[in-house]
Amino acid sequence: MAKTKSIFVCQNCGVDSPKWIGHCPSCHEWNTYVEEIIEKPDPFSGNSTAKHQSPKLLTEISSVSNNRILTATKEFDRLLGGGVVAGSLILLGGEPGIGKSTMALQVALNLNNATALYISGEESEQQIKFRADRIGYLNNQCYILCETKLENILLQSKKIKPDIVIIDSIQTVYTDRIESSPGSVSQVRECANRLLKFAKETSIPVILIGHITKDGSLAGPKVLEHIVDTVLYFEGDRNHLYRILRANKNRFGSTSEIGIFEMSDKGLREISNPSELLISHFNDSLSGVAISATLDGIRPFLIESQALVSSAVYGTPQRSSTGFDLRRLNMLLAVLEKRAGFKLAAKDVFLNIAGGIKVIDPAIDLGVISAILSSNLDFPIDKKKCFSAEVGLSGEIRPVSRIDQRIHEAEKLGFKKIYISKYNLKRKIKTNHQIKIIPLEKIENLVSNLFH
Ligand code: TYD
Ligand code: MG
Repeated sequence: MAKTKSIFVCQNCGVDSPKWIGHCPSCHEWNTYVEEIIEKPDPFSGNSTAKHQSPKLLTEISSVSNNRILTATKEFDRLLGGGVVAGSLILLGGEPGIGKSTMALQVALNLNNATALYISGEESEQQIKFRADRIGYLNNQCYILCETKLENILLQSKKIKPDIVIIDSIQTVYTDRIESSPGSVSQVRECANRLLKFAKETSIPVILIGHITKDGSLAGPKVLEHIVDTVLYFEGDRNHLYRILRANKNRFGSTSEIGIFEMSDKGLREISNPSELLISHFNDSLSGVAISATLDGIRPFLIESQALVSSAVYGTPQRSSTGFDLRRLNMLLAVLEKRAGFKLAAKDVFLNIAGGIKVIDPAIDLGVISAILSSNLDFPIDKKKCFSAEVGLSGEIRPVSRIDQRIHEAEKLGFKKIYISKYNLKRKIKTNHQIKIIPLEKIENLVSNLFH
């Protein structure tokens, strides 16, 4: 019988130690060490198939550029850099209920002339069928397998030889080689490594679904992120309509891409033009509304900030913000007070970014300030105006990156004027824009320009 050996593994970062320790020296977390029984892999059985590789010249290696599988979800393909690369291992992470299983099943059901194997350790065949009926499908080449044992998963995958394998979720998969429970660091690490080996040997891409804990880290190991080729994360509030899928790591494409989806009653619907959705199309002009041209990754879109300024009922005024950093809002209010002479200290200020989207791009500052001013004066901003600039502590309007893209997006959506920083004009901006560019230097200029 194989000799069992136990080690203590940090459940947060995956570092192991021969004895229990309270404070992890690697990630500095407390009480994360758990005993795990490991079986030493037999050196004569496991690795006997490993071939000795000899070095090759780069020119001798054939390039496989077009080996990508296209799914019916264009946003998903774009995020991966143009489809699923053969032999790649992709991790799809996100909080529970955000739509990981829905997304993965949607990919499996709508492949173009390709077969998929969807393996679930979380749902029964009936549940998956029910979900598939809801999403709707064209492809009848999707196999479903409810299994959690890695050896069976690999066996069935080799037997069916699908074009893509999806595993929902990596935390439910276990191997007999290791005695610790499914979801533990050593199980997840070992299973992911063997699936990686499978993907590379057979050139079949594997998509792993991974859960995220409440504090935002991947449940179990961070090591999983190092093993896989691509990490996609779902962001957003599951109570809101919109979900953002972001590439955090991508060996075959850019990481500055995002995909925007809407959870509908028929699964996740891709939103190819988010700007149109994120702006309200009221006919009347409303005060307290301003549109900003922002950027997420490299994707420009227009977003609406709504502000409400009212007299404070209690002694201390309230400041509340959704989708925008509250400390930044307080800073902008202080700038307005000091530099533009607005007495906001006795006012409640509420700020909301439409669509439940969180914006961290500083280019939204000018739009936020304009919305606050507009609500304070109860004077609507012309619907054909939009904003894109950062605001500094001394009230200066600061330049932002990729201004051309922002201006282009605003122009595409029919805006007539865009307010930007004067300093953005120092670098060359394309001159053939239809939209009127209004350069500003200080916050005082905005006040005199906007409401006259
Ligand atoms: P799910 O994919 O199960 O989330 P995860 O795998 O990330 O835990 O999706 C969860 C939510 O999506 C669930 O609350 C129900 C909702 N949903 C819809 O609104 N419409 C649909 O068509 C489907 C399939 C799910
Ligand atoms: Mg799920």
